Amino acid sequence: MRRCTPVVLILATALAITFVLPQPAFAQDGAAIFKAKCATCHGPEGEGKIGPAVRGTTLTAVQIADMLTKGNDARKPPHKKPQASLSADDSKAVAEFVKTLK
Ligand code: HEC
Repeated sequence: MRRCTPVVLILATALAITFVLPQPAFAQDGAAIFKAKCATCHGPEGEGKIGPAVRGTTLTAVQIADMLTKGNDARKPPHKKPQASLSADDSKAVAEFVKTLK
């Protein structure tokens, strides 16, 4: 039995990680979308690169999602126009993810 203990511990840890860590689906989707479609300009952590930093932005998630789905004429490209490849749900998910960046 003594030999089994480490294996049992590892399994228990793996199970604990599997069940405790997963985040709400929207957070994971938002993170994946950000990485794929926003990080080139805003940096992987939203720290800013070609575009300005988005972490700690004063915009609300609703305002960000709005800018992404409708575009905002007062802004510079690419946000003058709607992000064509993002659905409304994607925009909401990625906007909520941006608000989690600190
Ligand atoms: C081609 C580069 C580029 C890509 C791709 C891009 N952005 Fe931007 N983003 C910019 C630039 C440039 C600005 C500044 C525009 C302005 O304010 O006039 C900006 C501004 C913003 C702002 C406003 C920040 C503030 O506080 O005013 C947010 C939020 C934002 N982007 C989110 C996103 C998200 C989310 C994505 C992915 C869906 C994305 N951007 C994709 C270049 C980009």
